[in-house]
Amino acid sequence: ADILVLNGPNLGRLGTREPDVYGSGTLDALRALLQDDAGDDRIDLRQTDDEAELLRWLHEAADSGAPVILNAGAWTHYSYALRDAVSLVTKAGGTVVEVHLSNPHAREEFRHTSVITAVATGVIAGFGFESYRLALAFIRRNAR
Ligand code: DQA
Repeated sequence: ADILVLNGPNLGRLGTREPDVYGSGTLDALRALLQDDAGDDRIDLRQTDDEAELLRWLHEAADSGAPVILNAGAWTHYSYALRDAVSLVTKAGGTVVEVHLSNPHAREEFRHTSVITAVATGVIAGFGFESYRLALAFIRRNAR
């Protein structure tokens, strides 16, 4: 089945954006790494800088039941529309694992708040690409 890996704003710049914080791997490298772990499952990895598009993808997941790995970037910290869309998926019985490359709690104060954690299935942060791999391992064992 399909596993959605949804990435929000600025994550298309991975590889060159603050490599000391986010690592030097690109989104294409991440897609390949996850597909390697995914066995029969198909990794559908997407990125958008458009919040409306991310909301539509979450609505799609609510309808299809596809499990979601979500790195919402900075929207994590303040978007109540995003929170409502995540809630819509999990209340429909779907899985949303919130992930972050960095450990937001070790960074600026504004990153210490996530408005989505309370409605997500769980959260994994601080392990670079491993955050996504751990989320995928959880989904493959428990959420399909
Ligand atoms: C991030 C952390 C956010 O605070 C930041 O805005 C990002 C990336 C992470 O993966 O560490 O864009 O979600």
